[in-house]
Amino acid sequence: MPMTDQLLQDKFGRVIRDLRISVTDKCNFRCFYCIPDEDIVWKRRQDLLTYEEIIQLAEIAVSLGVEKLRLTGGEPLLRKDIEFLIERLAKIAGVKDLALTTNADGLKDRAATLRAAGLTRLTISCDSLKPEVFKQITRRDSLQAVLDGIDATMTAGFAPPKINCVVIRGMNEDEVADFADFARTSGVAMRFIEYMPLDNAHQWDKSMMVSGREIIERIEARHKLVPLHKDNPSETALKFGFADGAKGEIGIIAPVTQAFCGACSRLRLTAEGNLRTCLFSMTDYNIRDRIRRGDSRDELAQFMIDTVLKKEEGHRINEPDFVQPPRTMVFIGG
Ligand code: 5AD
Ligand code: SF4
Repeated sequence: MPMTDQLLQDKFGRVIRDLRISVTDKCNFRCFYCIPDEDIVWKRRQDLLTYEEIIQLAEIAVSLGVEKLRLTGGEPLLRKDIEFLIERLAKIAGVKDLALTTNADGLKDRAATLRAAGLTRLTISCDSLKPEVFKQITRRDSLQAVLDGIDATMTAGFAPPKINCVVIRGMNEDEVADFADFARTSGVAMRFIEYMPLDNAHQWDKSMMVSGREIIERIEARHKLVPLHKDNPSETALKFGFADGAKGEIGIIAPVTQAFCGACSRLRLTAEGNLRTCLFSMTDYNIRDRIRRGDSRDELAQFMIDTVLKKEEGHRINEPDFVQPPRTMVFIGG
């Protein structure tokens, strides 16, 4: 139960209910838009938050109104014994949802233990169903492992996972309707994401982005869709079901053409202990050093409250003066 009546609320009145915790900056894939292929310098172990530190910060956030925790990375399954962290986070009173975003490599053998540890939901990234294109995007030959991982989540008793697919012009936009078929046969919830200017090479150009509208048109050329209601107002996806009643769901996440910042309820914690108020922030707020110098619970809570007050109104992707932040998802935490 919340220890205080105080909420994490920003100066635009948005309440933070969702904390995304990156547990590692390491990844075993090399998605071209996210990380360079070679010569990556990973963070040193001592620079990352320990599990005890993550738990302490999550408890404070939950006492300030956070209800949903999501573990991300990098690839969170690469952090040793992540099941231990999940078990501890699942026990925090007030946590309604404990999710994890993964590339699903190796998930096949871990889905059952993740579920036993108390994870409530999985989101899996998969940008192509064609082995060659999958390899071109991720630089790994792992499509089958990902598909096996998706199967394993359902065998382990999880609800059908959400599948994140970043749609990139010239690479996978011709697969959108195939992914819709995949949702209909497997029951997963597809999430098509507009490609955002957060790419490793800083080569993003609007022409590489496929708009949410076009994604819907491509699906509707094959299957008629019906809009579904959002479960909560800060949900990022516009959701659709199939008009013929088939299983599966379609979601469109359109941060570029239909920004959803007005309903944003998110705060991020990077693996090395920086709070981030927006994916596109130019500033990090280091809370790790405050824990390590021995700040009290109340001081840390106050720092979180003050940080949230600095949350920006929204991203400025479409403004002429937009400046892309220096780091990509792998170092921010999706
Ligand atoms: N644009 C859109 N989505 C992105 N992701 C990573 N980088 C980008 C980008 N530039 C996605 C990943 C993953 C999720 C956390 O964010 O593919 O599914
Ligand atoms: Fe929230 Fe920033 Fe994403 Fe907008 S761009 S939805 S403010 S995290």
